[in-house]
Amino acid sequence: METFSCYYSLLLMLSVLITDGNCQGAVYTMSMSPTMNQVIVSRVSISTGQLMYVASVSTNGTGVNVTAADPLFSQGSIMVYENYLFVVNPGSNTLSQFSISPTDATQITLISVQPTNGTYPISVAVNSMYACVLNGGTLNGFRCFSYTSNGLTTMASYDRSLVLYVNQTTPPMGPPNTLSQIQFSADNQALIVSVKGVPNVFSGYILIYTINNGSLSLNPKETVPTGAVLPFSMTLVGQNGLLLTDPGANGFLTLSYSSSNGSVMNSLFTPVNTSVAAALCWSVYSSKTGNYYGIAAGTGTIVEISINPSTNNVTIVQYYMLPNQTGALDTTIITLGSTDYLYVIGTKAQVIISYKLNGPGNATLNGQLTLPASPQVGSPLVQGLAGYVQMSHSSMILRPMGIYQSLVLIFMIFFMQSFMFH
Ligand SMILES: *[C@@H]1O[C@H](CO)[C@@H](O)[C@H](O)[C@H]1NC(C)=O
Ligand SMILES: *[C@@H]1O[C@H](CO)[C@@H](O)[C@H](O)[C@H]1NC(C)=O
Ligand SMILES: *[C@@H]1O[C@H](CO)[C@@H](O)[C@H](O)[C@H]1NC(C)=O
Ligand SMILES: *[C@@H]1O[C@H](CO)[C@@H](O)[C@H](O)[C@H]1NC(C)=O
Ligand SMILES: *[C@@H]1O[C@H](CO)[C@@H](O)[C@H](O)[C@H]1NC(C)=O
Ligand SMILES: *[C@@H]1O[C@H](CO)[C@@H](O)[C@H](O)[C@H]1NC(C)=O
Ligand SMILES: *[C@@H]1O[C@H](CO)[C@@H](O)[C@H](O)[C@H]1NC(C)=O
Ligand SMILES: *[C@@H]1O[C@H](CO)[C@@H](O)[C@H](O)[C@H]1NC(C)=O
Ligand SMILES: *[C@@H]1O[C@H](CO)[C@@H](O)[C@H](O)[C@H]1NC(C)=O
Ligand SMILES: *[C@@H]1O[C@H](CO)[C@@H](O)[C@H](O)[C@H]1NC(C)=O
Repeated sequence: METFSCYYSLLLMLSVLITDGNCQGAVYTMSMSPTMNQVIVSRVSISTGQLMYVASVSTNGTGVNVTAADPLFSQGSIMVYENYLFVVNPGSNTLSQFSISPTDATQITLISVQPTNGTYPISVAVNSMYACVLNGGTLNGFRCFSYTSNGLTTMASYDRSLVLYVNQTTPPMGPPNTLSQIQFSADNQALIVSVKGVPNVFSGYILIYTINNGSLSLNPKETVPTGAVLPFSMTLVGQNGLLLTDPGANGFLTLSYSSSNGSVMNSLFTPVNTSVAAALCWSVYSSKTGNYYGIAAGTGTIVEISINPSTNNVTIVQYYMLPNQTGALDTTIITLGSTDYLYVIGTKAQVIISYKLNGPGNATLNGQLTLPASPQVGSPLVQGLAGYVQMSHSSMILRPMGIYQSLVLIFMIFFMQSFMFH
């Protein structure tokens, strides 16, 4: 009996290892502690999309010494690109690069920490070659790095200052008059920065830097999107569309841009109902539903919209109230099989709330994870959210065991059998 159950659990264990090894995921947020910024890592259940806390890993940098719920006023403070994780350290003016284990997304390894050539980094844009980090403090602007598995290398020719645009303190006072996000255009031929205005004083705007033959334009093209007050998050829409959330204008900004000359066309404003969606700050796209989701911090709401890409018209599909006044902050979506799952930071309760996107207009609550209490006193609440899923490759799942694995298995069974009978 015992031997049988041992064989059985061993085989089960092995099959679990094989399955999990090829198809597993994690969600990352950060502690923002003033003495040690940490990535808070949670495992994603592949079958349910629910989260389980795993570990907190130092970034070798620091967060901020404030207790505000949202001291970054930004989207994109944590970004995943393939097997790499990038995290800003606003307190130590650095960017950290981790590698993510291809066999276990909850295992991350710090490989590089580099200065951002400014103060208070808040957002990072990543493509296959570069990571560009936006500083939001007194010395604001951005710096780009090329990156490999050996770490980050500064590209000094891409350093740009924005102090002539934004006059701020460190930490910045906001949300008005703060930088929001840095983003690559869909074709990677431009860098776009969103900047909040000051209500009734000046409008917020976007800055588009074009990249021609690998060189970044010295000066950006500045555009005020129609209706813009406090442009916050940016989410790409197809090949040349952009969606922005605007908590000052209380709605969505949609526009088309040219990555070759920085021009903006067909810019539209769509209001939301502020009694159910106030302070619309973050946004994300679901490839499975084809819809976009905005997060309204003031009311703790998800606003699902569809965008007509040929007109930029926005249709509000559904409002979802988050449970239990948990607050709402940054968001991310991960795809498990044919289903997308949306995660939102619930700041007030220090939780990550999960929704299953069953289809357009049909998001259902899918549990919540309570994060461990922050290890440092004086630490703000968590910021930034990103996920990583290593999907299974059918060739790997179906691959028969090699001679080496078979020998190991036979040895293990033999070993455990002799262990149990003595
Ligand atoms: C945070 O600020 C408070 C007062 O503003 C100060 O007493 C405390 O030492 C600071 N903590 C750190 C880690 O800087
Ligand atoms: C992180 O900090 C530790 C201790 O100071 C240091 O040994 C290590 O090299 C740092 N790692 C990176 C990637 O900077
Ligand atoms: C860093 O920032 C300063 C001030 O914004 C700028 O003059 C300098 O060119 C930047 N780049 C490097 C490599 O220092
Ligand atoms: C920036 O703001 C400070 C405080 O409001 C002000 O004293 C200073 O003149 C401003 N600087 C610029 C360049 O506008
Ligand atoms: C593109 O850049 C490369 C390397 O800097 C240079 O050799 C080449 O002449 C450039 N091409 C054009 C069309 O500017
Ligand atoms: C910018 O490029 C787009 C196409 O990418 C074109 O339609 C538009 O006319 C150009 N605008 C300017 C001002 O050159
Ligand atoms: C906004 O939402 C509230 C609460 O659901 C509702 O009573 C009100 O009619 C809505 N306003 C509009 C203009 O749809
Ligand atoms: C876009 O929306 C506006 C009003 O919001 C409407 O007048 C127009 O017909 C719409 N266009 C299309 C193509 O749906
Ligand atoms: C909301 O709070 C109640 C009471 O604290 C709790 O029983 C319930 O599980 C919470 N709901 C969610 C979705 O966490
Ligand atoms: C939403 O999706 C769930 C799960 O697929 C399904 O049971 C439910 O009927 C759907 N609701 C609507 C309104 O379509």
